[in-house]
Amino acid sequence: SLIHQKSYLVNGVLKPWEGKSTEVYSTISSTEEYAPTLLGSIPDMGEEEALGALDAALLAYNRGQGAWPTMRVKERIECMEIFVKKMKTKREEIVKLLMWEIGKSLPDSQKEFDRTVDYIEDTIEDYKQLDRNSSKFQKHDGVYAHIKRGPVGVVLCLGPYNYPLNETFALLIPAIMMGNTTIFKPAKHGVLLITPLLEAFQTSFPRGVVNIIFGRGRAVASPIMKTGKVDVLALIGNSKSANALQNQHPKSNRLRLVLGLEAKNPAIILPDADLDLTINECIAGTLSFNGQRCTALKIIYVHKDIAKEFNKRFAKKVDALKFGNPWENGVQLTPLPEPEKPAYIQELIDDAVAKGATILNERGGQRFDNYIWPAVLYPVTSDMRVYQEEQFGPIIPIVPFTDIEEPLDDMAESNYGQQVSLFGKDVYALAPLIDTLVNLVCRVNLNSSCQRGPDVYPFTGRKDSAQSTLSVHDALRSFSVRTFVAFKDN
Ligand code: G3H
Repeated sequence: SLIHQKSYLVNGVLKPWEGKSTEVYSTISSTEEYAPTLLGSIPDMGEEEALGALDAALLAYNRGQGAWPTMRVKERIECMEIFVKKMKTKREEIVKLLMWEIGKSLPDSQKEFDRTVDYIEDTIEDYKQLDRNSSKFQKHDGVYAHIKRGPVGVVLCLGPYNYPLNETFALLIPAIMMGNTTIFKPAKHGVLLITPLLEAFQTSFPRGVVNIIFGRGRAVASPIMKTGKVDVLALIGNSKSANALQNQHPKSNRLRLVLGLEAKNPAIILPDADLDLTINECIAGTLSFNGQRCTALKIIYVHKDIAKEFNKRFAKKVDALKFGNPWENGVQLTPLPEPEKPAYIQELIDDAVAKGATILNERGGQRFDNYIWPAVLYPVTSDMRVYQEEQFGPIIPIVPFTDIEEPLDDMAESNYGQQVSLFGKDVYALAPLIDTLVNLVCRVNLNSSCQRGPDVYPFTGRKDSAQSTLSVHDALRSFSVRTFVAFKDN
């Protein structure tokens, strides 16, 4: 059944929306002849509603004693517990929307929901511990201090389409938990799945703590940033949007940034790598959710001595993957949620082929519905677009190397620095490499593909890949400041 979202959450009220709406489509066809499916519509809001949400967040932040930022830890935790309890009742509905809106497979959609619930529950536990450890009296040189962690202020949260529930909440939940007040705009794809949660947000938290608006980023996020009244920009997405929003803030040097941005995580395959394991990890790393993950492996460096064997077996495995609708049993490749993505991937293929790369797999580049079969390209060179751009989709560039300095130099020059996967057996060769790699990225995965989880591990990156750190432990710190009251022993 269609979901026509006709209200938005501001200052604790689900305000009816009577203005223009934007239709939301799935790229999954529900008819035999391919056609996108209408799922519903969302309000197409503008400056007035955006600034109304900002005012509500400011008011909630400054309401004084007993309001959200000053509320007792125990009470804030109770609100969050009520929210997560209500959220759990919406599992089936949200999982279904994840499948239709972004084409995520059933097991992965269920995992996204469950992982988010775990994230919230772990955040609650971590917050209790953080409060116990950080809220204490100290005395140094005759000065007493009561030090604790407090909120930063008003947070604008914008999440991505590939994890519209999990990653958006990985920003929103710790921000709320620490006593900040928030404005949240759902991602373009994966927006309707917020509808089942509106009432839970409204009834679990005091008014103005969570304000939810709909519309295009430029129409609603920009006016908010331009006021200069936002204290934290929390965004997972691309650096172009993050930079544009940051620059709109008139006092951007005051703005705290919590950002998860692009990455071009490489796999480096050494000559003694276990090929069975490496191929399996590279398939998962490059093509889980069609490569639409910031943590996906987006370029494979393979040593020349094993390139032929690796390429042959890898390409064969890519063609043996199962494509289907998200709810079908055992599907590994699913429809792409962005209507423009297949054409973009095709451009990358054409560019690479024109510059000398070959498509190694028979099905590579085949087009049907809103899909393009993953193309395995070899040999990829630095002049090709797929070598430089974050493809965020089903295309796999493979680069041969003879000297390990080649991939290391590329990584040193890259604008990104999230993770790397290193495949090999000889510990004496691996050890010095690991030491070098951890200073180029933030996580080195040994004989395994890149990933964000487990969510207690720090999730961040160097250079243009991230600002601040997200994870159950770190996000609470990213959304807080250490404050204290001091007095002298007179
Ligand atoms: O899109 C980026 C996500 O953080 C990837 O998370 O490694 O759990 O799929 P994941």
